[in-house]
Amino acid sequence: MSQHIKILGIESSCDDTSASVICDGFLLSNVVASQSVHESYGGVVPELASRAHQQNIIPVVHEALKRAGISKDELSAIAFTRGPGLMGSLMVGTSFAKGFAQALRIPIIDVNHLQAHVMAHFIKEEGAENRQPDFPFLCLLVSGGNSQIIKVNAYNDMTVIGQTIDDAAGEAFDKCAKVMGLPYPGGPVVDRLAKSGNPKAFAFSKPHIEGYDYSFSGLKTSFLYTLRDELKKDPDFVEKNKEDLCASLQSTVIDILMEKLKRAAKDTSIKQVAVAGGVSANSALRQAFHDYAEKYGWDIFIPKFSYTTDNAAMVAITGYFKFQDKDFCELSAPPFARTNL
Ligand code: KG4
Repeated sequence: MSQHIKILGIESSCDDTSASVICDGFLLSNVVASQSVHESYGGVVPELASRAHQQNIIPVVHEALKRAGISKDELSAIAFTRGPGLMGSLMVGTSFAKGFAQALRIPIIDVNHLQAHVMAHFIKEEGAENRQPDFPFLCLLVSGGNSQIIKVNAYNDMTVIGQTIDDAAGEAFDKCAKVMGLPYPGGPVVDRLAKSGNPKAFAFSKPHIEGYDYSFSGLKTSFLYTLRDELKKDPDFVEKNKEDLCASLQSTVIDILMEKLKRAAKDTSIKQVAVAGGVSANSALRQAFHDYAEKYGWDIFIPKFSYTTDNAAMVAITGYFKFQDKDFCELSAPPFARTNL
């Protein structure tokens, strides 16, 4: 048997079906099938997501093995996202991983989706710079479902030191975008329109919360009320001010995120700071990280765009670390919809 550790990663927690192969920590393939079926509903429809995963999982895994240039018999283990996520979606990836591993007589490794987002910073690529953070470091995890500041002590020892008490940052982008009549998911559209807007055109409320926790529901309400009041005066208000509204919304979200992160970095004296999750694709958030690096001497880690949204490479790399500790899971392990790190 080969001495190389080859892990197949499977991700199906929400609306992306993904499979990836990692060999000794280096990426061989990362295939993602995104589900466009949800666009017309303005959000992910769980039942449709499960059905699409069921259709996509076999071709996606087949393609990941093909692009990696390996046969299924060379795999050392299969890592799969066990949760958190949509139960029906998770069941597709979990069941597939179990059945495939049984047939190949190899172990399965369960992976926490949030831990995997953080671990995306450890994926190595042939010919790339492959700079990785040292432990401990801080990671701002911002996605459609989470906004957390995580103190990462080791790959398997992460402490959430701050998190949202209501909406996530991505949710704030998506919900405000929906109110403006923008398509789902709104985050990338807001990012694009904000580029030609004035971030100081509108002032939206910011939360006053203790510690490192976040809140975005007040911002959402403040945004909604501004639109409601202005639309009474001018029915074309949104159309005329779309760019400025997006720029002001985006800059408020980023101010809220960075303020707490700055405080956490100061209090913990940790200067290695990473960002992860879907919202880490945001261009202004990336710029804010560069600005803070310059201003406060942070050593920053920003993921490649392909590792920001849900992908199986982050699952496979987490599996690679767990494999070395022989941290396998039982075939009876059920997926879980909700959990923390
Ligand atoms: O991690 P992710 O793919 O999965 C979920 O948590 O569902 O994150 C998706 C979130 C969505 O809310 C989306 O609007 C947001 O990430 N997002 C962005 C950008 N790209 C994706 N938000 C702001 N700016 C972006 N460029």
